[in-house]
Amino acid sequence: MKPRPIVPGVDFVGAPDFDRRVFDSLIPLPDGTSYNAFLVRGRDKVALIDTVDPKTLPVLEAYLRDVPRVDYVVSNHTEQDHSGGLPWVLERFPRAQLLSSEPARTMLADHLGLDPARIRAAADGERLDLGGKTLRFIYTPWVHWPETMSTYLEEDRILFSCDWFGSHIAATDLFVDGVDSILAEAKRYYAEIMMPFRKIVQKNLDKIEGLDIRLIAPSHGPVIRDPASIVAAYRDWTGDRPHNAVVLPWVTMHGSTEIMVRRLVDGLVQRGVSVFPFNMATADIGQLAMAMVDAATIVVATPTVHFGPHPMVFNAAVLANALRPKTRFAAVIGSYGWAGKMPELVKGALPNLKVEYLPPVVSKGLPKAADLEAVDRLAEAIAAKHQALELA
Ligand code: FEO
Repeated sequence: MKPRPIVPGVDFVGAPDFDRRVFDSLIPLPDGTSYNAFLVRGRDKVALIDTVDPKTLPVLEAYLRDVPRVDYVVSNHTEQDHSGGLPWVLERFPRAQLLSSEPARTMLADHLGLDPARIRAAADGERLDLGGKTLRFIYTPWVHWPETMSTYLEEDRILFSCDWFGSHIAATDLFVDGVDSILAEAKRYYAEIMMPFRKIVQKNLDKIEGLDIRLIAPSHGPVIRDPASIVAAYRDWTGDRPHNAVVLPWVTMHGSTEIMVRRLVDGLVQRGVSVFPFNMATADIGQLAMAMVDAATIVVATPTVHFGPHPMVFNAAVLANALRPKTRFAAVIGSYGWAGKMPELVKGALPNLKVEYLPPVVSKGLPKAADLEAVDRLAEAIAAKHQALELA
């Protein structure tokens, strides 16, 4: 298998993974994914940027079979879907030096059992001349781990960004022209792994703002020919201003909570607020995470199981707490059979959210007229809060 050129002297040597359906035993991958690796050939030296997940190592092996030399291997990120092929690569090219960020040096040795003597830490901003191809290493921490860096190829104006700007998409085509067809998957990926570090991602965006970027070559999904659009999307996702939207994870047992959910959805829609309800019995948590990227308000809707929230909705609250969205307001609605502390327990699961809580609405059994009127008041209160912030 011959390496596939993306520009003269730069080849794709990665692997699509059409069949993968879950990542980290957590994240659904409806479109599979890819593990992208790139070979940069200068006049004097050759560098390999990232490798592949170990399960697709045969693809990388085939691409590199007729490659006579690799002088440098650049590891932008230590997570195994990119670094898993390093042990084989370093054995295949015994004279190659492994370059990483400073924090990655010990991580690579710890996670992959690599010989620390083979690893050299590149400084932030350091340049490496391969002969007509100059790599510049740019530390971009927390996209996705603290050690992550990006690599910029100056002459061809390509940013090898690893996880950020990536999308979990498996395809045989190497490029995407606009970003419309990848934006949903790129947002899903941002939501799942980078949203908790939103403020640092903002700083990383500032850091690359002055770069003249022609192509973004992430380590998942296609190479992006429209860098400005994906950067603009990241600016919006990481920005401090939420949208006029409510994310509503819910579940029902005997229908009472569902009645309240439907009433709330209607009430919000009538007041011009977008709503993203997710029945947690069947929801794709990636889509839930995507809705959390923008929503100004989260409403958790759950019946009471024994004394607390239904575990499936509780999971959604735990996920929201872990992802730390920019949500400004929160509320709890639902029902109970005889007693319970459901709203307090939901609130207790969300300590990381810097939100103003609106009064909960909880009905005993089937919601009565007064309960539904309270739901209407909640819709009114949410709409008023959003309007006060002039959210679009
Ligand atoms: Fe694609 Fe954080 O690894």
